[in-house]
Parts: sequence; C-alpha cells; structure tokens
Amino acid sequence: MSQKLKGKVCIVTGGGHGFGEAMARRFAEEGAQVVIADINPTTGSKVALEINGLHGEKTALFQEANVTSQASWAKLLEASLKEFGKVDVVVNNAGTTYPKKASHTVTEEEYDKVIGVNMKSIFLSVAVVVPYFLEQKAGTILNISSVGGIRVKNGLVWYGGTKAFVNKITEGLASEYGHSGIRVNAVCPILGYTDLAQSFMGVDDTPENRTKFEASFPRGEALKLNTSTGYVANAAVYLCSDDAAFVSGICLPVDGAATVYAAGVGK
Ligand SMILES: NC(=O)c1ccc[n+]([C@@H]2O[C@H](COP(=O)([O-])OP(=O)(O)OC[C@H]3O[C@@H](n4cnc5c(N)ncnc54)[C@H](O)[C@@H]3O)[C@@H](O)[C@H]2O)c1
Repeated sequence: MSQKLKGKVCIVTGGGHGFGEAMARRFAEEGAQVVIADINPTTGSKVALEINGLHGEKTALFQEANVTSQASWAKLLEASLKEFGKVDVVVNNAGTTYPKKASHTVTEEEYDKVIGVNMKSIFLSVAVVVPYFLEQKAGTILNISSVGGIRVKNGLVWYGGTKAFVNKITEGLASEYGHSGIRVNAVCPILGYTDLAQSFMGVDDTPENRTKFEASFPRGEALKLNTSTGYVANAAVYLCSDDAAFVSGICLPVDGAATVYAAGVGK
C-alpha cells in the first residue's frame, strides 16, 4: 500500500460496520491511526482488535460513542487526543434510515431518528471538533452522504432530505472554514451491501435482486470487481489525504454513473 495517510489520526464514526468499517480498515492500510467510534461496542471493538492484529498495537482505538450526543463527541475527542496526541481527520459516517415506504407512513419516531443520526451528528461534530481544528490551523472533515441527497428516491424522501442537507452544509462549511486550514468534503455512495441495504432496496437482499440492481445503472458491473464499500473507502483515502489538499467543498458521487444515467437508445 502507498501509505497515503501515514502520520494522520482519523476518527471514523460508525466504524464498526459497513462503509465505516471499510474506511477504518483501508485507512489503517494507508498508514493512519484510526479511532473507531461506534454505538455498538461488540462490532466496534472487534474491528479495532483486528486492525491492531494486522498493523500493530496502537493503530486503532475503539471508543463507544453516540453521535447524537454532544457529551459523547467531547469524550471521543478527549479519548483520541489522549491515545494518539492529535486528530487530523473526522469522517462523519454513522447514519441510519427507515425501511423504504410511502413518506406519509414514516413514523415520528423514525423521522426523529433519521434527522438526529444523519444531521444533528454533523452539527455536533463541528461544535466539538472545529474549535480544536481552528487551534491546530488544520483539519479535514469527510461526510458520508448518499446519491439519495442528489436525486431523492420515492419511499426514501426524508432520508434523502437528510443527505441533501449533508451536501449543502458540506459546501457551506468548506467555504466558511477554508481560510482556517480546514477542508470539508462529502462522498455520495450508491447502495452498499451493508446492514442498511435491505431498507434501501425495498425488496429482499437476495443474489437475484443484487444482479437486477447492478444491471440497472451504467457501471453496476464494477461491483463484481470490488464492493461499494471498497470503492467508497478508496475515495475517502484520497479526500482525506494530502493529495486532495486543493479539493474542498465537493460532494463526490461514488455510484457507477447512476446519478447521471439517462437511458437513451440501446441500454
Ligand atoms: N448502505 C447503503 O446502501 C448506503 C448508501 C448510501 C449512503 N449510505 C450511508 O453510509 C453511512 C454508513 O451506512 P452503512 O450502510 O455502512 O450502515 P451500517 O448500518 O452497516 O453501519 C452503520 C454503523 O453506524 C453505527 N451507528 C449507528 N447509529 C449510531 C450512533 N448514533 N452513534 C454512533 N454509531 C452509530 C452502527 O452501529 C454501525 O456500526 C450512512 O451515513 C448511510 O446513510 C449507505
């Protein structure tokens, strides 16, 4: 591996599973020290243990955290600084949804949860981490958004709205804090076969339905070579590395051209 993140300390929220786990593992391969912040101590500590087994003690730290709590963010920053002495990168990845369904049938509880975990979490990360970045005069924030924030899907309207929010505040924060050495970007993945996949698909997550899904957009077949989580991790490595020092305020679709797909003659 190219060690593109050597010397960087990166917090990855929701690092115990799915896209977050894939990013935590790739970041460690690229030389980073990673703090896996997750509400689930079983999966989060397992991922940290496995990363340390592969890359050496003190590569990964698990910190139990609830991204919707300011006190939890404060503890997360404190634990990261205690263990690794600094923080360079925060990946706001932890997110949730409700099962795809008619928007008027989404319950108030489901609505509050998706707003809290997908939106308030980033507000709190900025409230807690940006003062530290301002003092350090450097820092990188990467928000994990969704193609649903670019083109909102039927049955996932409130979810898509949270990700449209993520895209807009990514631009706004990049503009507001760029002069202070802080970069802010977002990645907009298409469906990843994670714990949330079934909720997004609206059908059973079976091999047949995956094949149908992969045939429904231009580069879907690339999922046979890697996984959606793998491609997102690759994009995250770039955006969090110094190679992207001049890149800020972008919301990068990692979606096999699904968002721009306009079926014409032929396929
Ligand atoms: N899976 C997809 O198809 C897909 C597509 C586009 C975008 N996304 C986005 O990717 C991100 C990660 O989703 P995923 O599919 O990997 O989900 P996942 O459910 O597989 O993993 C999410 C992780 O976040 C943790 N988490 C949940 N709530 C938390 C909280 N309040 N505090 C701390 N940790 C919490 C969970 O314990 C879990 O480990 C989300 O922001 C999601 O919206 C997912």
